[in-house]
Amino acid sequence: MRPVEIIDKVYWVGAVDWQIRDFHGYSTYKGTTYNAFLVLDDQVTLVDTVKKPFKSDLLRHVGEIIDPAQIDYIIVNHVEMDHSSCLPEIMDLIRPEKIFCSTMGHKNLLAHYHCPDWPYEVVKSGQQLSLGQRTVQFLETRMLHWPDSMFSYFPDDRLLISSDAFGQHWATSQRFDDEVDVSELFQHAAKYYANILLPFSGLVTKLLAQIKEMGLPIEMIAPDHGLIWRGHPAKIVEAYDAWARQQPQPQALIIYDTMWHSTEAMAQAIAEGLLMEGIPVKVFDMQVNHRSEVMTAVLDAGALIFGSSTLNNHLLPRMADMLTYMKGLRPLQKIGASFGSYGWSGEAVGQINNYLEEMKIKVVDPGLKINYVPDADGLQQCQALGRKIGQALKEETKS
Ligand code: FEO
Repeated sequence: MRPVEIIDKVYWVGAVDWQIRDFHGYSTYKGTTYNAFLVLDDQVTLVDTVKKPFKSDLLRHVGEIIDPAQIDYIIVNHVEMDHSSCLPEIMDLIRPEKIFCSTMGHKNLLAHYHCPDWPYEVVKSGQQLSLGQRTVQFLETRMLHWPDSMFSYFPDDRLLISSDAFGQHWATSQRFDDEVDVSELFQHAAKYYANILLPFSGLVTKLLAQIKEMGLPIEMIAPDHGLIWRGHPAKIVEAYDAWARQQPQPQALIIYDTMWHSTEAMAQAIAEGLLMEGIPVKVFDMQVNHRSEVMTAVLDAGALIFGSSTLNNHLLPRMADMLTYMKGLRPLQKIGASFGSYGWSGEAVGQINNYLEEMKIKVVDPGLKINYVPDADGLQQCQALGRKIGQALKEETKS
């Protein structure tokens, strides 16, 4: 890649990771980028760094503009290792005058790299730092999505460097949103939100309100992953507002795993019942779908219906994986139900119900179990369950 001047004397100097396919459980099937930004000013400043194996890309990109040793300041908006693991080597090489981070950033940098002698300068929300011609203002965004997270805002340029927020895992040679297919871009942004930021939706709503209240004009949002929002910054903020509210929509997901296709047949019959009620449905067989794709669909669904056969008195392992992952991401305002085929004891349905309860999903039916293979009457019961959930969802979503 080449460095890209995103505004006058501010350069993208990050790295593109075309190969990564798993990001702590999230399927990054189109890779990602680690964005870092170089600001040329009286104090030459590097905002964020990259994952350790990409250190040479960062240094090569900086080196095409200036000698990396000329960097005076490094701003660390976020300590997670995809943005900071090259820091120890970079610090040895560059020896900047100061490294700016939040209070929790300081604590977390120490806990990661054990370097108390780095020239830390802890900054607070609202604090401004003059770089010479330009000023940068820091905005702490605790738990969005780590305790150390913060934004760097450049008021003169109306540029927000937003760390993970507004990011997407998508490796491209283009750097801006208006250079790629926008509908695909929003798909990646939605997947990112659903799999990274969903548990912190309440904080997202508060942060967006705070930005509005502060009257910060924003013309460009430069996240630390994916494309920079130059053409559609307002649209991605609006999308975040909607995703964070998690208003239930009249759409259902059926998520299942099956041993001998009986639970699958139940899933199909439940889908028919939902369609009879006019509810659009997406059906996810966990043998062929990734948990992070399911989570993306959860953003738009009001009803979540889970099915599993019982194996050795337990849920099938892929369903346990899905439910555990989803529980951590804490979707809100959903209704749900469970179903499954069984041989002799049939614990899976009860175990799914326990997950639903823990996730505070409103259970609209005690759960449907069918012994071995569903007959015509069994499939009728499944269809009736689909209709029941469809009716409940219409009730939940009527305005
Ligand atoms: Fe992209 Fe939270 O790291």
